Amino acid sequence: GGGLHARAAAKGLAFGAALATRHMGEPDLMAAYRADCGLLVAEYEMKWSQLEPEAGQRRFRLADQLVSFARRNRMALRGHTLLWHESEPRWLSSLDARGTAAAMASHVDATALRWRGAIGTWDVVNEAVAPEHGRPDFLRRTWLLNRLGPDYLPQAFHIARAADPDARLAYNDFGIEHANLWSRRRRLGVLNLLQALRRAGAPVQVLGVQGHLQAGQPFEASEWRAFLAEVAALGLTIEITELDVNCAALPAAAARRDALAADLVRRFLDATLAEPAVRSVITWGLSDRHSWIQQGLLAEHRRSDNARPRPLPYDEAMRRKPMWAAIASAFDAA
Ligand code: G3I
Repeated sequence: GGGLHARAAAKGLAFGAALATRHMGEPDLMAAYRADCGLLVAEYEMKWSQLEPEAGQRRFRLADQLVSFARRNRMALRGHTLLWHESEPRWLSSLDARGTAAAMASHVDATALRWRGAIGTWDVVNEAVAPEHGRPDFLRRTWLLNRLGPDYLPQAFHIARAADPDARLAYNDFGIEHANLWSRRRRLGVLNLLQALRRAGAPVQVLGVQGHLQAGQPFEASEWRAFLAEVAALGLTIEITELDVNCAALPAAAARRDALAADLVRRFLDATLAEPAVRSVITWGLSDRHSWIQQGLLAEHRRSDNARPRPLPYDEAMRRKPMWAAIASAFDAA
């Protein structure tokens, strides 16, 4: 019985969800966070563009609202994310290589220092691989990579470690979960990056697997478990950091889509939780009322209920969906 985190904790695991401060005024939503979550992560308030909108002017107020909510409700915290090419502040582009390296170092240092002792795991780098670029190292041609060269990756981990000696440090990525060619190449890229970080002596302890699943895409438990075992063999633990299911590609009646999404989540979690190195599961939000996937969809998709993505464990009226039961039973069976 009990909420999702209680069931996870009974197996030595943890469950939580991403939260954005702008939703904290919804009593029914926040009751579900308190009932189900033992872990919390800021949906966007701890990203560089939000923390330092102007060079040297750091703003922690919004993120601190989430930190104190977590503290009040005895939830652990994930830090997301120190470096990500989609959340770098615009003023960076006016700096030269030396200026960029200094700005990156002071951002990582100041942020890790600010919440030292409060953050269990930091996503130090998010989404740095892109096999489609054809580079042998599979690295995404981000602005930071072009400006600083690949050494910025281990450097970021060293700076974070120096600022917070206790937080686990993670590399976080997406698009590696399914049994298709794209995901298989991305898994290879992630393994290459993790091995390169380890060879460079970077203090990386965790792989963050985002888990943005696509209903309709194949999922192969044995190949997924083999990948997780390879990551564990590098001495890393694994955290599922942004689980949700996009059903937009499967126009069907809502009940059918909910059942398909729940089945996929159950199969994914059964295979994932079988890996002893897996420590926690976080969904990217709790309710279909607020999902990033809606933000991305074209207006006509938002209108036609038949194509709404319905990605999360609760529906818009905060009723538990089959996905809630799928997560609960995956923990019970772990
Ligand atoms: O709330 C502010 C508003 O005050 C401001 O006026 C407006 C214009 O700047 O921005 C608003 O913030 C938006 C924020 O979401 C809150 O709605 C940002 O523009 C928008 O970029 C941000 O999108 C987030 C996105 O990451 C980029 O940070 C999504 O909520 C969030 O779900 C998404 O999450 C990412 C993970 O971090 C990494 N993995 C993929 C995942 C989905 O894209």
